Amino acid sequence: MTQMQPQAQMQVNEIQFTDNNPQLACFAEEVIGGLKKTPRCIPPKFFYDKRGSHIFDDICETDEYYVTRTETELLKKHNTEIAQLIGENCLLIEPGSGNSQKVRILLDELKPQTYLPMDISRDYLTSAAQELANEFPWLDVHAACVDYTTPIDLSFVENCTDTDPAENRINNTIRKVAFFPGSSIGNFEKSHAGQFLKNMANMLGVNGGLLIGVDLKKDPSTLHAAYNDKNGATAEFNLNLLTRINRELGANFNIGNFSHHAFYNNEKSRIEMHLVSNRPQSVTIDSEYFHFKEGDTIHTENSYKYHIEEFQELASEAGFKSRRVWTDENNLFSLHYFEVAESISPR
Ligand code: AVJ
Repeated sequence: MTQMQPQAQMQVNEIQFTDNNPQLACFAEEVIGGLKKTPRCIPPKFFYDKRGSHIFDDICETDEYYVTRTETELLKKHNTEIAQLIGENCLLIEPGSGNSQKVRILLDELKPQTYLPMDISRDYLTSAAQELANEFPWLDVHAACVDYTTPIDLSFVENCTDTDPAENRINNTIRKVAFFPGSSIGNFEKSHAGQFLKNMANMLGVNGGLLIGVDLKKDPSTLHAAYNDKNGATAEFNLNLLTRINRELGANFNIGNFSHHAFYNNEKSRIEMHLVSNRPQSVTIDSEYFHFKEGDTIHTENSYKYHIEEFQELASEAGFKSRRVWTDENNLFSLHYFEVAESISPR
């Protein structure tokens, strides 16, 4: 009898990989710097080590976290129209691509020339990109390990593939479209979100497109539940940050002495996530010493919620014109398609 060989290593469609080496150098600095601030804070991008990326996938499957399933429904329902708006043979860029699940809904209709997933979580990105490439053998996949919160230089991909004269071109450059689902934009402060969108418009250039998912304002109890799921996936996600700091920075956080705290800040239209110290305690990281009183918190994430018009205005100030918005019947979530306004220079 012959045994089936495992197929996991088979590479049907070889991917390209660019590594900008994000995060490694700055993790210690940003954590220590953040813990010295008042109030204490650590940027949410550090949630996504390998374990964190997996826990995030678990969050997306909880009953309470409506974001993923609502956006997935919108993408399924409107993928033909989306493909018509964008046109074939684009360069499709996804900052923070994670498991690249949502983009699968678009690929067969959209037929991009190249898919460029970008993520801060290197191993997770590599396996997700290779899996996707095998599933879509016709697609050119170029993965890039980057921290997308800093401006992205696309020259590494522009220098690579430019041989076949695809249709979707202006001045012989391929149309660039960013796919930014999941309301990841909500992690940014409003002013920072505007700056991010401006950088995006510059990166995409004339004729560029932006397909972006934005979570909507809604009743606080729905929001509260989404960030306090009963099975504790969100709590585990939040606390995993401390586990990561212990492992990678040699800190001695006692994970049991901190709790997950998430609530809707109505005034600022944002969910806030914190890690709360359950008792007076001290922690050392390197040679640094930090004291926590009972109730002291570390602010780990903001997740801003928008009205549709409010977000359109933000995007318009950043150089985008709105082409289309889709929402679900319960007005939980919005999916926008923007194009870079003519007046924006390609640089
Ligand atoms: C990936 C930033 C969009 O804010 O809803 C989910 C992250 N944090 N549950 C969000 C998150 C806790 C998520 N984003």
